[in-house]
Amino acid sequence: MAKSLRVGVLTGGGDCPGLNAVIRAVTKSLILQHNAEVIGFEDGYEGLIERRMRSLTYSDVSGILTRGGTILGTSNKGNPFNYYKRGGADVSAEVKKYLREIGLDALVLIGGDGTMSSAYRLQEMGINCVGVPKTIDNDLVGTSRTFGFDTAVTIVTEAIDRLHTTAQSHNRVMIIETMGRYAGWIALYAGVAGGADIVLIPEFEYDIDEVARVCRERESGGQQFTIICVAEGAKPKGGEQVVQEIVADSPDPIRLGGVCKILESQLEKRVRSEIRSTILGHVQRGGTPTAYDRNLATMYGSYAAAMVVDKQYGRMVALQQNSLTSVPFEEVANKTRTVGPDAPMVAGALAVGMSFGVKNFDVRLAGSEMSPSLP
Ligand code: F6P
Repeated sequence: MAKSLRVGVLTGGGDCPGLNAVIRAVTKSLILQHNAEVIGFEDGYEGLIERRMRSLTYSDVSGILTRGGTILGTSNKGNPFNYYKRGGADVSAEVKKYLREIGLDALVLIGGDGTMSSAYRLQEMGINCVGVPKTIDNDLVGTSRTFGFDTAVTIVTEAIDRLHTTAQSHNRVMIIETMGRYAGWIALYAGVAGGADIVLIPEFEYDIDEVARVCRERESGGQQFTIICVAEGAKPKGGEQVVQEIVADSPDPIRLGGVCKILESQLEKRVRSEIRSTILGHVQRGGTPTAYDRNLATMYGSYAAAMVVDKQYGRMVALQQNSLTSVPFEEVANKTRTVGPDAPMVAGALAVGMSFGVKNFDVRLAGSEMSPSLP
């Protein structure tokens, strides 16, 4: 039987657990429900620009549900409107011509903010695009969850659990640094799940004297150790974020990292205990996705396939109030969803005595939007 629909798939930006589960869900549902032909572009937008693609059959995507990474490869540099391999040239018209040549009906783009921002511009040019929200950072606007986040939180939580026992044995202050870029979701959710004593996130500038006060109070209390979970983007009151590296040819060149070492040196002068710090880094992005992320990825992928069939282009799949829906790229592009003081998890953290390293945190604000369905 002739194929009625030809759909492309690509994974863009930094990888995260669940990418393969989405590729599988998109491909299987398009093949099984609509007898479509599915094509995978390699290394994100780079494959689209450099015409590197391969056909994705049912058997190509069988057995990849649990696998970390992406079978298609990815890149966080391939912006078609500013292509680094061609001196920053806008190659989007070439992409459009190529897609017309190969008779592609639509593209499913699995990625974060950068991928969605480019997808928005491609859609404006008349290329049919549907987005699927990916990132361990959970910082995409329009959806309460990105797939990959739950896995990262689970990995960090397990690390905090392990640090707890060694912290307790030595009565030490243990600092654990998480990823998350400009949003504190990973540190907040893992900090609460792991029972950290202090959580420092970019959204609430910390006061080092307050952080030290909490540590000292614990030193002289029943529990003499302290666990601090700090997001890579956290910064002290009036201070700056710690930049680890500038990746010059990346659309988002700043790589944060190393705040735990600064914190360690600031605290050394203020507390009695020994301090140790751990940076988890890319461990948070590796390995098999959790059951939650496999399920979310499967729902997102099959919903994206249905959107293609219904011609609901120019939109990203989203989770809102525990239901699947979609939002226009316009609402998502070039924005970041950060933790607000009214996030229910902030209220939960404060209620159990966790500190954000902020003196007199306004608890009246926290949890003002508390609802039975968690974000
Ligand atoms: O956006 C995902 C993320 O892992 C961030 O949390 C982190 O800051 C960044 O990517 C690291 O990027 P790279 O893989 O280029 O080092």
